[in-house]
Amino acid sequence: MPPSQPSNSSFPAINGARYAAITGWGKCLPPAVLSNADLATFIDTDDDWITSRTGMKERRVAHVQCTDMAHIAALRALAAAGRTAQDLDLIIFGSCTGDTVVPTCASRVQDLLGAKGIASLDLNTACTSGLYALSVASSMIKTGSAKRVLVIGAEKPSALMDWTNRNVAVLFGDGAAALIVEGSEQEQGLMAESLGCYAEARDSLAVHNYGTAYTNMCPTSITSWDFDGQDIFKRAVKGMVKASHDVLNKLNLGVEDIDTLVPHQANSRIIDAVGKKLGVPADKVFVNVERYGNMSAATVMIALCEAIEEGKVKPGANILLPAFGAGLTWNSHFIRWGERVEPLGYSDAELPACKKTALEIIAPRLEAQRKHAQSEQASSDKTDNQQQNKNNKPVEELA
Ligand code: ACO
Repeated sequence: MPPSQPSNSSFPAINGARYAAITGWGKCLPPAVLSNADLATFIDTDDDWITSRTGMKERRVAHVQCTDMAHIAALRALAAAGRTAQDLDLIIFGSCTGDTVVPTCASRVQDLLGAKGIASLDLNTACTSGLYALSVASSMIKTGSAKRVLVIGAEKPSALMDWTNRNVAVLFGDGAAALIVEGSEQEQGLMAESLGCYAEARDSLAVHNYGTAYTNMCPTSITSWDFDGQDIFKRAVKGMVKASHDVLNKLNLGVEDIDTLVPHQANSRIIDAVGKKLGVPADKVFVNVERYGNMSAATVMIALCEAIEEGKVKPGANILLPAFGAGLTWNSHFIRWGERVEPLGYSDAELPACKKTALEIIAPRLEAQRKHAQSEQASSDKTDNQQQNKNNKPVEELA
Protein backbone atom coordinates (compact mmCIF):
# COMPACT_ATOMS: atom_id res chain seq x y z
CA MET A 1 0.00 0.00 0.00
CA PRO A 2 1.22 3.58 -0.61
CA PRO A 3 2.49 5.26 2.57
CA SER A 4 -0.28 6.96 4.51
CA GLN A 5 -0.26 10.73 4.92
CA PRO A 6 1.28 12.09 8.15
CA SER A 7 -1.60 13.67 10.10
CA ASN A 8 0.19 17.05 10.46
CA SER A 9 0.98 17.44 6.72
CA SER A 10 -0.40 20.47 4.96
CA PHE A 11 -0.03 18.81 1.55
CA PRO A 12 -2.87 16.83 0.00
CA ALA A 13 -2.22 13.08 -0.19
CA ILE A 14 -1.29 11.82 -3.65
CA ASN A 15 -1.87 8.13 -3.51
CA GLY A 16 -0.92 5.84 -6.35
CA ALA A 17 -2.41 2.53 -7.37
CA ARG A 18 -1.54 -0.64 -5.54
CA TYR A 19 -0.50 -2.47 -8.71
CA ALA A 20 0.58 -1.45 -12.22
CA ALA A 21 -1.10 -3.82 -14.70
CA ILE A 22 0.04 -4.42 -18.28
CA THR A 23 -3.15 -3.96 -20.28
CA GLY A 24 -1.87 -3.54 -23.83
CA TRP A 25 1.01 -4.86 -25.91
CA GLY A 26 2.12 -4.30 -29.49
CA LYS A 27 5.17 -4.86 -31.68
CA CYS A 28 6.47 -3.48 -34.97
CA LEU A 29 8.98 -5.34 -37.10
CA PRO A 30 10.27 -3.67 -40.26
CA PRO A 31 9.64 -5.91 -43.29
CA ALA A 32 13.15 -6.11 -44.84
CA VAL A 33 14.85 -9.39 -43.87
CA LEU A 34 18.64 -9.76 -43.72
CA SER A 35 19.47 -13.48 -43.83
CA ASN A 36 22.72 -15.20 -42.88
CA ALA A 37 23.28 -15.78 -46.62
CA ASP A 38 22.88 -12.02 -47.23
CA LEU A 39 25.54 -11.28 -44.60
CA ALA A 40 27.90 -13.76 -46.24
CA THR A 41 27.78 -11.67 -49.44
CA PHE A 42 29.80 -8.85 -47.84
CA ILE A 43 31.59 -10.22 -44.75
CA ASP A 44 33.65 -13.35 -44.20
CA THR A 45 31.01 -15.50 -42.51
CA ASP A 46 28.56 -18.30 -43.27
CA ASP A 47 25.22 -19.68 -42.18
CA ASP A 48 26.85 -22.60 -40.32
CA TRP A 49 28.99 -20.36 -38.10
CA ILE A 50 26.19 -17.91 -37.32
CA THR A 51 23.61 -20.64 -36.63
CA SER A 52 25.88 -22.78 -34.49
CA ARG A 53 27.42 -19.91 -32.48
CA THR A 54 24.28 -17.72 -32.06
CA GLY A 55 21.12 -19.58 -33.16
CA MET A 56 20.28 -16.68 -35.51
CA LYS A 57 18.96 -17.24 -39.02
CA GLU A 58 17.72 -13.78 -39.96
CA ARG A 59 17.13 -10.30 -38.61
CA ARG A 60 15.20 -7.18 -39.74
CA VAL A 61 16.55 -3.91 -41.12
CA ALA A 62 14.45 -0.76 -40.81
CA HIS A 63 13.76 1.51 -43.80
CA VAL A 64 12.29 4.10 -41.38
CA GLN A 65 13.41 5.87 -38.21
CA CYS A 66 13.45 4.13 -34.86
CA THR A 67 10.60 6.36 -33.62
CA ASP A 68 8.44 5.40 -36.63
CA MET A 69 8.58 1.75 -35.55
CA ALA A 70 7.87 2.83 -31.96
CA HIS A 71 4.85 4.83 -33.12
CA ILE A 72 3.27 1.83 -34.87
CA ALA A 73 4.01 -0.47 -31.90
CA ALA A 74 2.42 2.15 -29.61
CA LEU A 75 -0.77 2.35 -31.72
CA ARG A 76 -1.06 -1.44 -31.61
CA ALA A 77 -0.50 -1.53 -27.83
CA LEU A 78 -3.09 1.23 -27.29
CA ALA A 79 -5.64 -0.70 -29.38
CA ALA A 80 -4.90 -3.90 -27.43
CA ALA A 81 -5.57 -1.99 -24.18
CA GLY A 82 -8.75 -0.42 -25.58
CA ARG A 83 -7.23 3.04 -25.05
CA THR A 84 -6.30 6.07 -27.12
CA ALA A 85 -3.27 8.34 -26.87
CA GLN A 86 -5.45 10.85 -25.00
CA ASP A 87 -5.71 8.36 -22.11
CA LEU A 88 -1.93 8.47 -21.47
CA ASP A 89 -0.12 10.76 -19.06
CA LEU A 90 3.45 9.57 -19.62
CA ILE A 91 5.58 8.05 -22.40
CA ILE A 92 8.94 6.38 -21.69
CA PHE A 93 11.08 5.66 -24.73
CA GLY A 94 13.67 2.98 -23.92
CA SER A 95 16.47 2.81 -26.48
CA CYS A 96 20.18 3.30 -27.15
CA THR A 97 19.76 3.86 -30.90
CA GLY A 98 17.13 6.61 -31.09
CA ASP A 99 16.96 8.93 -34.12
CA THR A 100 18.04 12.01 -32.15
CA VAL A 101 19.36 13.00 -28.73
CA VAL A 102 18.07 16.57 -28.94
CA PRO A 103 15.10 16.71 -29.20
CA THR A 104 14.10 13.56 -27.36
CA CYS A 105 12.72 10.54 -29.18
CA ALA A 106 9.84 10.22 -26.72
CA SER A 107 8.66 13.68 -27.79
CA ARG A 108 8.53 12.56 -31.44
CA VAL A 109 6.41 9.52 -30.59
CA GLN A 110 4.24 11.79 -28.43
CA ASP A 111 3.83 14.23 -31.33
CA LEU A 112 3.03 11.45 -33.82
CA LEU A 113 0.42 10.09 -31.42
CA GLY A 114 -1.08 13.55 -30.85
CA ALA A 115 -0.82 13.15 -27.07
CA LYS A 116 -0.54 16.87 -26.37
CA GLY A 117 0.95 18.17 -23.13
CA ILE A 118 1.68 14.89 -21.34
CA ALA A 119 5.09 13.99 -19.90
CA SER A 120 7.60 11.99 -21.91
CA LEU A 121 11.19 10.91 -21.44
CA ASP A 122 13.99 8.90 -23.00
CA LEU A 123 15.71 6.18 -21.00
CA ASN A 124 18.90 4.38 -22.00
CA THR A 125 20.34 1.31 -20.30
CA ALA A 126 21.12 -0.30 -23.70
CA CYS A 127 19.45 -3.68 -24.22
CA THR A 128 17.67 -3.54 -20.86
CA SER A 129 16.10 -0.10 -21.55
CA GLY A 130 12.57 -1.42 -22.21
CA LEU A 131 12.51 -3.32 -18.92
CA TYR A 132 14.08 -0.50 -16.90
CA ALA A 133 11.38 1.71 -18.46
CA LEU A 134 8.77 -0.77 -17.20
CA SER A 135 10.25 -0.40 -13.69
CA VAL A 136 10.07 3.40 -13.85
CA ALA A 137 6.50 3.31 -15.20
CA SER A 138 5.28 0.83 -12.57
CA SER A 139 6.96 2.77 -9.74
CA MET A 140 5.50 6.10 -10.88
CA ILE A 141 2.03 4.55 -11.07
CA LYS A 142 2.43 3.19 -7.55
CA THR A 143 3.54 6.58 -6.16
CA GLY A 144 0.77 8.42 -7.97
CA SER A 145 3.09 10.37 -10.29
CA ALA A 146 1.46 8.76 -13.34
CA LYS A 147 -1.74 6.90 -14.08
CA ARG A 148 -1.35 5.34 -17.50
CA VAL A 149 2.02 4.96 -19.19
CA LEU A 150 3.20 3.99 -22.65
CA VAL A 151 6.43 2.01 -22.25
CA ILE A 152 8.51 1.60 -25.40
CA GLY A 153 11.52 -0.54 -26.26
CA ALA A 154 12.68 0.42 -29.74
CA GLU A 155 15.99 -0.01 -31.52
CA LYS A 156 17.65 0.56 -34.85
CA PRO A 157 21.12 -0.99 -34.40
CA SER A 158 21.45 -1.26 -38.19
CA ALA A 159 22.19 2.49 -38.24
CA LEU A 160 24.92 2.17 -35.63
CA MET A 161 26.44 -1.04 -36.90
CA ASP A 162 29.97 -1.41 -38.18
CA TRP A 163 28.98 -3.52 -41.17
CA THR A 164 32.62 -4.35 -41.93
CA ASN A 165 33.04 -6.10 -38.55
CA ARG A 166 31.81 -9.70 -38.64
CA ASN A 167 32.11 -10.01 -34.85
CA VAL A 168 29.11 -7.73 -34.39
CA ALA A 169 27.40 -7.31 -37.77
CA VAL A 170 25.69 -10.72 -37.60
CA LEU A 171 24.24 -10.29 -34.11
CA PHE A 172 21.73 -7.44 -34.21
CA GLY A 173 18.38 -6.52 -35.78
CA ASP A 174 15.84 -3.66 -35.71
CA GLY A 175 12.39 -3.60 -34.12
CA ALA A 176 10.10 -1.98 -31.58
CA ALA A 177 7.53 -2.96 -28.99
CA ALA A 178 5.23 -1.11 -26.60
CA LEU A 179 3.28 -1.87 -23.44
CA ILE A 180 0.44 0.07 -21.81
CA VAL A 181 0.83 0.06 -18.04
CA GLU A 182 -1.94 1.37 -15.78
CA GLY A 183 -2.98 1.40 -12.15
CA SER A 184 -4.97 -1.55 -10.84
CA GLU A 185 -6.20 -2.91 -7.52
CA GLN A 186 -5.86 -6.49 -8.87
CA GLU A 187 -2.67 -8.34 -8.01
CA GLN A 188 -0.96 -8.18 -11.41
CA GLY A 189 1.79 -6.48 -13.39
CA LEU A 190 5.40 -6.05 -12.28
CA MET A 191 5.59 -7.65 -8.80
CA ALA A 192 9.33 -7.07 -8.28
CA GLU A 193 12.59 -6.75 -10.16
CA SER A 194 16.30 -7.04 -9.58
CA LEU A 195 18.50 -4.46 -11.32
CA GLY A 196 22.26 -4.13 -11.54
CA CYS A 197 25.28 -3.22 -13.63
CA TYR A 198 28.81 -4.62 -13.97
CA ALA A 199 30.22 -1.14 -14.56
CA GLU A 200 33.80 -2.39 -14.22
CA ALA A 201 33.21 -4.27 -17.50
CA ARG A 202 31.69 -1.33 -19.38
CA ASP A 203 34.45 -1.42 -21.99
CA SER A 204 33.46 -4.97 -23.05
CA LEU A 205 30.95 -3.36 -25.40
CA ALA A 206 31.68 0.16 -26.55
CA VAL A 207 30.65 1.96 -29.74
CA HIS A 208 33.17 4.62 -30.72
CA ASN A 209 32.23 7.83 -32.56
CA TYR A 210 28.78 7.80 -30.96
CA GLY A 211 28.06 10.38 -28.24
CA THR A 212 29.31 13.78 -27.16
CA ALA A 213 32.77 12.44 -26.28
CA TYR A 214 33.26 12.36 -30.07
CA THR A 215 30.89 15.02 -31.39
CA ASN A 216 32.72 17.95 -33.05
CA MET A 217 36.02 16.19 -32.35
CA CYS A 218 36.20 13.60 -35.13
CA PRO A 219 36.25 14.22 -38.86
CA THR A 220 33.77 11.42 -39.49
CA SER A 221 30.80 9.82 -37.81
CA ILE A 222 31.83 6.30 -38.83
CA THR A 223 31.35 4.02 -35.84
CA SER A 224 33.66 1.27 -34.66
CA TRP A 225 32.82 -1.35 -32.04
CA ASP A 226 34.97 -2.58 -29.18
CA PHE A 227 33.38 -5.91 -28.44
CA ASP A 228 34.59 -8.71 -26.19
CA GLY A 229 31.96 -11.34 -27.01
CA GLN A 230 33.19 -13.96 -24.57
CA ASP A 231 33.37 -11.58 -21.61
CA ILE A 232 29.85 -10.33 -22.39
CA PHE A 233 28.65 -13.92 -22.75
CA LYS A 234 29.94 -14.94 -19.29
CA ARG A 235 28.72 -11.80 -17.51
CA ALA A 236 25.34 -11.98 -19.28
CA VAL A 237 24.72 -15.49 -17.95
CA LYS A 238 26.00 -14.56 -14.47
CA GLY A 239 23.97 -11.34 -14.25
CA MET A 240 20.70 -12.81 -15.54
CA VAL A 241 20.92 -15.85 -13.26
CA LYS A 242 21.83 -13.76 -10.21
CA ALA A 243 19.04 -11.25 -10.88
CA SER A 244 16.53 -14.07 -11.36
CA HIS A 245 17.46 -15.70 -8.04
CA ASP A 246 17.34 -12.29 -6.32
CA VAL A 247 13.87 -11.43 -7.58
CA LEU A 248 12.48 -14.89 -6.74
CA ASN A 249 13.96 -14.58 -3.23
CA LYS A 250 12.36 -11.15 -2.81
CA LEU A 251 8.99 -12.70 -3.58
CA ASN A 252 9.55 -15.90 -1.58
CA LEU A 253 9.07 -17.91 -4.76
CA GLY A 254 11.02 -20.75 -6.35
CA VAL A 255 11.96 -21.61 -9.91
CA GLU A 256 9.02 -24.05 -10.02
CA ASP A 257 6.68 -21.02 -9.73
CA ILE A 258 7.80 -19.66 -13.11
CA ASP A 259 5.30 -20.47 -15.88
CA THR A 260 7.16 -18.77 -18.72
CA LEU A 261 10.74 -17.53 -18.99
CA VAL A 262 11.16 -14.79 -21.60
CA PRO A 263 14.90 -13.98 -21.60
CA HIS A 264 16.89 -11.44 -23.61
CA GLN A 265 17.55 -12.95 -27.05
CA ALA A 266 21.22 -12.19 -27.71
CA ASN A 267 22.40 -15.74 -28.39
CA SER A 268 20.63 -19.12 -28.16
CA ARG A 269 23.60 -20.48 -26.18
CA ILE A 270 23.22 -17.71 -23.57
CA ILE A 271 19.48 -18.49 -23.37
CA ASP A 272 20.21 -22.23 -22.93
CA ALA A 273 22.82 -21.54 -20.25
CA VAL A 274 20.47 -19.26 -18.29
CA GLY A 275 17.59 -21.76 -18.52
CA LYS A 276 19.83 -24.65 -17.40
CA LYS A 277 21.49 -22.76 -14.54
CA LEU A 278 18.08 -21.64 -13.25
CA GLY A 279 16.64 -25.12 -13.76
CA VAL A 280 13.74 -23.96 -15.94
CA PRO A 281 12.60 -26.70 -18.38
CA ALA A 282 13.20 -25.84 -22.05
CA ASP A 283 9.48 -25.98 -22.87
CA LYS A 284 8.90 -23.00 -20.54
CA VAL A 285 11.58 -20.87 -22.21
CA PHE A 286 10.42 -18.59 -25.02
CA VAL A 287 12.91 -18.26 -27.91
CA ASN A 288 12.62 -16.21 -31.12
CA VAL A 289 16.30 -15.30 -31.62
CA GLU A 290 16.41 -17.27 -34.89
CA ARG A 291 13.93 -14.85 -36.50
CA TYR A 292 15.17 -11.44 -35.32
CA GLY A 293 18.63 -11.59 -33.72
CA ASN A 294 19.30 -9.22 -30.82
CA MET A 295 17.03 -6.16 -31.07
CA SER A 296 18.48 -4.67 -27.87
CA ALA A 297 15.76 -2.83 -25.90
CA ALA A 298 13.01 -4.18 -28.17
CA THR A 299 14.06 -7.82 -27.72
CA VAL A 300 12.35 -8.97 -24.53
CA MET A 301 9.29 -6.82 -25.20
CA ILE A 302 8.80 -8.28 -28.69
CA ALA A 303 9.40 -11.77 -27.28
CA LEU A 304 6.75 -11.10 -24.62
CA CYS A 305 4.26 -9.94 -27.31
CA GLU A 306 4.96 -13.09 -29.34
CA ALA A 307 4.69 -15.36 -26.29
CA ILE A 308 1.20 -13.89 -25.70
CA GLU A 309 0.27 -14.20 -29.40
CA GLU A 310 1.40 -17.85 -29.44
CA GLY A 311 -0.69 -18.73 -26.36
CA LYS A 312 2.37 -19.26 -24.16
CA VAL A 313 1.12 -16.77 -21.58
CA LYS A 314 -1.94 -18.08 -19.75
CA PRO A 315 -4.25 -15.96 -17.58
CA GLY A 316 -2.58 -15.32 -14.23
CA ALA A 317 0.81 -16.63 -15.47
CA ASN A 318 4.07 -15.92 -13.65
CA ILE A 319 6.57 -14.59 -16.16
CA LEU A 320 10.27 -13.96 -15.58
CA LEU A 321 12.11 -11.53 -17.87
CA PRO A 322 15.91 -11.62 -17.40
CA ALA A 323 18.04 -9.41 -19.64
CA PHE A 324 21.45 -7.73 -19.99
CA GLY A 325 22.91 -4.92 -22.05
CA ALA A 326 25.89 -2.67 -22.62
CA GLY A 327 27.09 -1.05 -19.43
CA LEU A 328 26.98 -4.01 -18.58
CA THR A 329 23.46 -3.64 -17.20
CA TRP A 330 21.39 -6.62 -16.11
CA ASN A 331 17.98 -7.28 -14.64
CA SER A 332 15.25 -9.79 -14.01
CA HIS A 333 11.60 -8.71 -13.85
CA PHE A 334 8.86 -10.87 -12.35
CA ILE A 335 5.42 -10.26 -13.83
CA ARG A 336 2.09 -11.67 -12.74
CA TRP A 337 -0.05 -11.54 -15.88
CA GLY A 338 -3.72 -10.51 -15.60
CA GLU A 339 -6.76 -12.51 -16.66
CA ARG A 340 -6.91 -11.14 -20.19
CA VAL A 341 -4.55 -12.59 -22.79
CA GLU A 342 -6.50 -11.34 -25.82
CA PRO A 343 -6.20 -7.77 -27.15
CA LEU A 344 -9.34 -5.64 -26.72
CA GLY A 345 -8.81 -4.27 -30.22
CA TYR A 346 -6.49 -4.10 -33.20
CA SER A 347 -4.90 -1.13 -34.96
CA ASP A 348 -4.60 -1.13 -38.75
CA ALA A 349 -1.57 1.19 -38.57
CA GLU A 350 1.35 0.05 -40.74
CA LEU A 351 4.80 1.35 -41.60
CA PRO A 352 5.11 2.94 -45.05
CA ALA A 353 5.81 0.32 -47.74
CA CYS A 354 9.46 -0.67 -48.11
CA LYS A 355 10.71 -0.74 -51.70
CA LYS A 356 14.26 -1.89 -50.91
CA THR A 357 15.85 -5.14 -49.85
CA ALA A 358 17.72 -5.25 -46.54
CA LEU A 359 21.02 -5.32 -48.47
CA GLU A 360 20.00 -2.19 -50.41
CA ILE A 361 19.07 -0.39 -47.18
CA ILE A 362 22.43 -0.99 -45.53
CA ALA A 363 24.49 -0.47 -48.73
CA PRO A 364 25.21 3.29 -48.26
CA ARG A 365 26.45 2.78 -44.69
CA LEU A 366 28.59 -0.21 -45.70
CA GLU A 367 30.05 1.78 -48.59
CA ALA A 368 30.92 4.73 -46.32
CA GLN A 369 32.50 2.39 -43.76
CA ARG A 370 34.57 0.61 -46.44
CA LYS A 371 35.82 3.94 -47.86
CA HIS A 372 36.70 5.11 -44.36
CA ALA A 373 38.59 1.86 -43.65
CA GLN A 374 40.49 2.21 -46.95
CA SER A 375 41.48 5.80 -46.24
CA GLU A 376 42.58 4.87 -42.69
CA GLN A 377 44.65 2.04 -44.15
CA ALA A 378 46.16 4.37 -46.78
CA SER A 379 47.16 6.94 -44.17
CA SER A 380 48.60 4.24 -41.90
CA ASP A 381 50.62 2.84 -44.86
CA LYS A 382 51.87 6.37 -45.63
CA THR A 383 53.02 6.86 -42.04
CA ASP A 384 54.76 3.47 -42.10
CA ASN A 385 56.51 4.38 -45.36
CA GLN A 386 57.64 7.73 -44.00
CA GLN A 387 59.01 6.00 -40.92
CA GLN A 388 60.71 3.42 -43.14
CA ASN A 389 62.33 6.16 -45.29
CA LYS A 390 63.46 7.92 -42.16
CA ASN A 391 64.94 4.70 -40.81
CA ASN A 392 66.74 4.10 -44.10
CA LYS A 393 68.49 7.49 -44.04
CA PRO A 394 72.15 7.71 -43.07
CA VAL A 395 72.51 8.57 -39.38
CA GLU A 396 74.16 11.90 -40.12
CA GLU A 397 71.06 13.05 -42.14
CA LEU A 398 68.74 12.25 -39.21
CA ALA A 399 70.81 14.21 -36.72
N1 ACO B 1 31.60 -15.55 -38.85
C1 ACO B 1 32.66 -16.38 -38.79
N2 ACO B 1 33.59 -16.33 -37.85
C2 ACO B 1 33.45 -15.39 -36.89
C3 ACO B 1 32.37 -14.50 -36.90
C4 ACO B 1 31.43 -14.60 -37.93
N3 ACO B 1 30.36 -13.77 -38.00
N4 ACO B 1 32.49 -13.67 -35.83
C5 ACO B 1 33.61 -14.03 -35.18
N5 ACO B 1 34.18 -15.05 -35.83
C6 ACO B 1 35.41 -15.74 -35.48
C7 ACO B 1 36.33 -14.84 -34.70
O1 ACO B 1 37.12 -14.07 -35.57
C8 ACO B 1 37.15 -15.85 -33.94
O2 ACO B 1 38.14 -16.36 -34.80
P1 ACO B 1 39.61 -16.70 -34.24
O3 ACO B 1 39.41 -17.74 -33.21
O4 ACO B 1 40.32 -17.16 -35.47
O5 ACO B 1 40.14 -15.43 -33.68
C9 ACO B 1 36.16 -16.94 -33.65
O6 ACO B 1 35.10 -16.81 -34.61
C10 ACO B 1 35.55 -16.83 -32.29
O7 ACO B 1 34.80 -17.99 -32.16
P2 ACO B 1 34.27 -18.44 -30.75
O8 ACO B 1 35.31 -18.27 -29.71
O9 ACO B 1 33.69 -19.77 -30.91
O10 ACO B 1 33.14 -17.39 -30.49
P3 ACO B 1 32.14 -17.43 -29.34
O11 ACO B 1 31.75 -18.80 -29.01
O12 ACO B 1 32.61 -16.58 -28.21
O13 ACO B 1 30.90 -16.71 -30.00
C11 ACO B 1 29.76 -14.62 -29.93
C12 ACO B 1 31.04 -15.36 -30.36
C13 ACO B 1 28.61 -15.16 -30.76
C14 ACO B 1 29.95 -13.15 -30.20
C15 ACO B 1 29.49 -14.89 -28.43
O14 ACO B 1 30.64 -14.64 -27.68
C16 ACO B 1 28.36 -14.05 -27.89
O15 ACO B 1 27.23 -14.21 -28.26
N6 ACO B 1 28.66 -13.13 -26.98
C17 ACO B 1 27.66 -12.25 -26.43
C18 ACO B 1 27.35 -11.21 -27.43
C19 ACO B 1 26.25 -10.32 -27.03
O16 ACO B 1 25.34 -10.72 -26.39
N7 ACO B 1 26.32 -9.07 -27.41
C20 ACO B 1 25.37 -8.07 -27.13
C21 ACO B 1 25.37 -7.74 -25.68
S1 ACO B 1 24.97 -6.15 -25.27
C22 ACO B 1 23.57 -5.81 -25.95
O17 ACO B 1 22.71 -6.65 -26.01
C23 ACO B 1 23.47 -4.40 -26.54
